[in-house]
Amino acid sequence: MMLSSFVVAMAAQYSIIPAPVTLIQQAGSFSFNESTVLVADKGLKNVADMAKSYFHLTDGTATKNAVVLKVDKSLNLGEEGYRLLIDSDTVEIQGKSPAGVFYGLQSLRQLMPTDGWKGAKSFSVPAVIIEDQPRFQWRGAMLDVGRNFMPKEAIKKFIDTLALHKMNSFHWHLTEDQGWRIEIKKYPKLTSVGSKRAKTMLKYSPATYDETPYGGFYTQEEAKEIVKYAADRFINVVPEIEMPGHSQAAIAAYPELGNTDQKLDVAVNWGVNKHVFNPDVSTIKFLQNVLDEVMAIFPSKFIHIGGDECPKDEWKASPRVQQLIKERGLKDEHEMQSWFVRQMDQYLAAKGRRLIGWDEILEGGLAPGATVMAWRGESHGIEAANAGHDVVMASTSALYFDFYQGDPKTEPHAIGGNLPLRKVYDFDIVPAAITADKRKHIIGGQFQVWTEYIRTPEYAQYMAFPRALAAAEIFWSPKNKKNYRDFVERLKINLPHLDVNYRKLDTDLGLPTAEWKAGQVSNDYKVRKWDISSAGLSDGKATIKFQYTSGQFRLDVDGIEILANGVVVGSDSHYGRTGAENVDNVWHVTLKGIPAGAKIEVQAKVRGDGGGDTNGDIIVTRG
Ligand code: ACM
Repeated sequence: MMLSSFVVAMAAQYSIIPAPVTLIQQAGSFSFNESTVLVADKGLKNVADMAKSYFHLTDGTATKNAVVLKVDKSLNLGEEGYRLLIDSDTVEIQGKSPAGVFYGLQSLRQLMPTDGWKGAKSFSVPAVIIEDQPRFQWRGAMLDVGRNFMPKEAIKKFIDTLALHKMNSFHWHLTEDQGWRIEIKKYPKLTSVGSKRAKTMLKYSPATYDETPYGGFYTQEEAKEIVKYAADRFINVVPEIEMPGHSQAAIAAYPELGNTDQKLDVAVNWGVNKHVFNPDVSTIKFLQNVLDEVMAIFPSKFIHIGGDECPKDEWKASPRVQQLIKERGLKDEHEMQSWFVRQMDQYLAAKGRRLIGWDEILEGGLAPGATVMAWRGESHGIEAANAGHDVVMASTSALYFDFYQGDPKTEPHAIGGNLPLRKVYDFDIVPAAITADKRKHIIGGQFQVWTEYIRTPEYAQYMAFPRALAAAEIFWSPKNKKNYRDFVERLKINLPHLDVNYRKLDTDLGLPTAEWKAGQVSNDYKVRKWDISSAGLSDGKATIKFQYTSGQFRLDVDGIEILANGVVVGSDSHYGRTGAENVDNVWHVTLKGIPAGAKIEVQAKVRGDGGGDTNGDIIVTRG
């Protein structure tokens, strides 16, 4: 009795996001105070400086009241793994690499009480043994600064919050139809012309604008400062230079890059734009010169060349492009896009870099070393992996944080969609339908913040957080550690510590109304009932979602009924299932004839596909 209440009381203090692989709670705590010292291996200078700034430490040699940072090459926890050991004498972090030590420090920060976050020098952290390493090597966030420019200090704050959650890749979307945002010394008009537009679209339909001219770009020095700032926090900056589409700002600056004699301005409307680069050799050379300067700023192995949403209207209408298609022995405009991407792939490969692009780069064939960012759906990720390419899952359905996270009636204007926190958390970036031998090609995941309607850093933070923390957990934590209820409890503690304009948690967080547990079902269909009275349903529409959380087997559901005091008041007879993959696992009912205060149950015909080892949540919502 005593022990279990102790564990419950302590659990709140172990609120680390993403959840560590193993965390063993210990009795007692370590107290930081004015004389706590830092003892760090040489070679960890940068990480030691971070530790000193987080916890007000001074260098020392003591073996007690000390934070000890060590690189241990024999540690068997992967390149980025760490061990964090806290007892009443010391805090010790062992990493196989400096990155691992840094991640151990982030876990330690998250064990700090609110006082510590507010700058107190004396506070305690609970004793613990943690061993941890990431599930995926690419844990990314993309920020679009083409549509709306974000000042350097805002980028740093974004990077800080990513680092706290062990993210390691910042994809900087630097060029767009509506603005070119990176200084290129050889082509100054890219920024003197291309970074400015006449006005900014506020709503797409009916089209509404802020008529104030708008602009902004980063000098190369500023971009280098961001690269260094990110690298100090073990975050790689992947620059994106869009081609051949999403390029109107560059064509406005240098009309010879386009396909027609039409004079173009930097675009002011959002959407897919038909004005694209021509595929002449001179344009390829221009863009390779741009990439030379980009590679000098960004040491990233991966260089992103966009490749998405390139309409072929201008190439079809252009006699010059049609002649090039013939000369190059290509079948059509799609093969021309493929040819275009290959020029960049070969160029980057010759300089020791790797091309990455949105999944359209697969169309028409792709060079072997190229990596694909799958945004349009799982099938594109599977197709790329099956073709032997590495894949970063950036799925629109779960990782596009420009989508609404609540009711559009009460949320600030967004581009559309519906992506509440729970939907992000429930997503798995390894598609269920991928074959086992191709799974290794899924190197990680990435969330996207596209900024058409996101005009300020504060609004970008509101859209990113807390959904970014759900993403961080699905990119880092083992799949069998996933537990939404537990995540929400950790989030409640962590969120107030974030130095960003995060969105407050909803009262309806999609927490389960009921649960099914291992042993309640079997391999054969049986009718089962769960009490859902606490959802407070009355006459009208409701949705019932069955969401698998753990166990060996998926749950098959062959129709549901809602009962009020044992009488059927609504039903939806469709078949659905939930497991590693969800298929039609939401049931919609229209309820009629519910007496006040009735006991409400959901009754369903269910089986575990293979046996009873299946667990999950039943989530009931009105409407
Ligand atoms: C994209 O959303 N066009 C990659």
